[in-house]
Amino acid sequence: MSTPRYNIAWLPGDGIGPEVTREALRVLEAAGSAYGFSIAAEEHPAGGAAIDDTGTPLPDDTRTACQNSDAVLLGAVGGPKWDDLTGDQRPESGLLALRKALAVYANLRPVMVPESLADASPLRPDRVANTDILFVRELTGGIYFGEPEGRTEDGAVSTMVYSEDEVERIAHVAFKRAQRRGGHVTSIDKANVLEASQLWRSVVTDVKEEHYPDVELRHLYVDNGAMQVVQDPRQFGVVLTGNLFGDILSDLAAALPGSLGLLPSASVGGTVGLFEPVHGSAPDIAGQDLANPIAAILSSALLLDEVDEPGAATAVRQAVDATLDDGLRTGDLAGPDSDAASTTDFGRHVADRIAAPASKNAAAS
Ligand code: NAD
Ligand code: IPM
Ligand code: MN
Repeated sequence: MSTPRYNIAWLPGDGIGPEVTREALRVLEAAGSAYGFSIAAEEHPAGGAAIDDTGTPLPDDTRTACQNSDAVLLGAVGGPKWDDLTGDQRPESGLLALRKALAVYANLRPVMVPESLADASPLRPDRVANTDILFVRELTGGIYFGEPEGRTEDGAVSTMVYSEDEVERIAHVAFKRAQRRGGHVTSIDKANVLEASQLWRSVVTDVKEEHYPDVELRHLYVDNGAMQVVQDPRQFGVVLTGNLFGDILSDLAAALPGSLGLLPSASVGGTVGLFEPVHGSAPDIAGQDLANPIAAILSSALLLDEVDEPGAATAVRQAVDATLDDGLRTGDLAGPDSDAASTTDFGRHVADRIAAPASKNAAAS
């Protein structure tokens, strides 16, 4: 059997994006050596870096390379240098255009608090330990893409739009995931005020009733939902949200394990998946080898799941856990008195900790 080779479009982007995705690639390569596949990563400009190079945040060559790859690994885009730009000129609009071009409407953002990290939480460890939530965020619709959008004569307008089809397809993703992990979906909206949320709620209810009698569904308003995530995170299994609420709630949920540097994401549903940390370019710590690479490394584990390398994906997750068990912590998680690991030290350690498969399962045989 020939060795599978995965062509990865690597978009390091801005700030800490290059630093953390370099470590994710190091770990992917180590996983490939252990599990019998190879990684061919090709770098492409995106975000502010692409604006500086080419004048646009998503050059055509980058978009095409992503569309022709097996998977896209992205760091983060944006930063103070480009904050005065507007509309399509902004680094962030390049990321939105990429999500749209890849048609990745389903953004999966797992949030877990292993016992080993419960002490790093700003919340009480006994309240957050063993939290295991999967945010399913709609990614290519809602207020991020609704028309009209832009400046008016005396103000500005943004519009939250959802079609029934858009809500239906993301609801299926959430219910299917719930069937594999506990059977609970909480759909979060603002149906007490917004017409678009009223449609959301009724479509989600219909999809459940028609197709998923085995899954429990409840609805929460987003203000209460945000409070509940902090108050009692273990009540949640799958959380289904629209684009804007999912953006906000997933950053909020990063406070449960104690750092945004821990949360990975997978954007799927199109032809090619996009894998990126939940966090941004972290300008305050960029360029200093301080960032936590776990979010990027775990995004690469989600990438391995998507290209159907589940053994390697599990090995990556276990290597991250082993590295934490070995006591390594980057600055965001280390207490003020402890020695923090650098981004590269942490990544190297994870790569070294990748365990080979048991010989009878060896993929390369
Ligand atoms: P941010 O996520 O970059 O940073 C928020 C805070 O979390 C900062 O204190 C930062 O130091 C910390 N942090 C984030 N990632 C970390 C990591 N891996 N390790 C340790 N600490 C980490 O959010 P922001 O400051 O609001 O945004 C900065 C820029 O990033 C903006 O231009 C924004 O638009 C952009 N952004 C991009 C993405 C993306 O590309 N997916 C996501 C969010 C924000
Ligand atoms: C995220 C980011 C992006 C979003 C921005 C940078 C466009 O905050 O991936 O969470 O809002 O989706
Ligand atoms: Mn965000």
